[in-house]
Amino acid sequence: MISIKSAREIELMREAGKFNQLTFRLLEKHLKVGVTTKMLDKVAHDFIIQNNCVPSCLGYEGYPASICISINDEVVHGIPGKRKLKNGDIVSLDLVLSYKGYHADATRTYIIGSASQEVKDLVKNTRLAFFEGVKKVKDGARVQDISKAIEDFAHAHGLSVVEELCGHGIGLEMHEDPDIENFDNHNMTKLKEGMVIAIEPMLNLGSKEVYLESDDWTIKTVDKMPSSHYENTVLVTKDGYEILTGDD
Ligand code: MF3
Ligand code: CO
Repeated sequence: MISIKSAREIELMREAGKFNQLTFRLLEKHLKVGVTTKMLDKVAHDFIIQNNCVPSCLGYEGYPASICISINDEVVHGIPGKRKLKNGDIVSLDLVLSYKGYHADATRTYIIGSASQEVKDLVKNTRLAFFEGVKKVKDGARVQDISKAIEDFAHAHGLSVVEELCGHGIGLEMHEDPDIENFDNHNMTKLKEGMVIAIEPMLNLGSKEVYLESDDWTIKTVDKMPSSHYENTVLVTKDGYEILTGDD
């Protein structure tokens, strides 16, 4: 079901979005060669709890951590553990928290140390693909407008689009209707003022094919080439949009 948020709900979702951004600012201070992904998860978990928020992923369908950390050929839903970040890794942090019941979902991909120009471009262009998509958002626009804008931008920059996962409505539930695909799936659903959606392109340097790891969570590229992810929670307004989780 698609939910339309009241003015009060929108205010709470803005608050949730602010806490989400603050958590990222803290995580960024810890993103260094040698840090374990488990440590990053703990930093996020403790900060979220201290701020009277709830880490939405922890326990969601049995997910064992507070955030998802996906490195290099991992596309999404990497589980934090003993692994240490190393020079040249690209690390996506996917962070969902709720405040007074309302969820805010955002993802950033970071380069640790130095990386090749093509990896830098992958990360940069995944972020820019989000902005191409979000520019289409306004009351009366269709989901397809967002999807096509993301797909066209990705292809124009030589990147492939992961099709197995998509963005989504968000509010009292982490995943609400409608789906927000990153490729043209002919989704004619109309956006309405007061809807809140997560737009989240997942783009690959190589082929679009992905598979589910034996841990039953981590999604990886079949060709082992790197993947990047960028996401924000976005309010649909009459004439456009408001990004609730920042635009960094
Ligand atoms: N941001 C992720 C998504 O929209 C959240 C995954 S939470 C998990 O799918 F518990 F499934 F990992
Ligand atoms: Co999401």
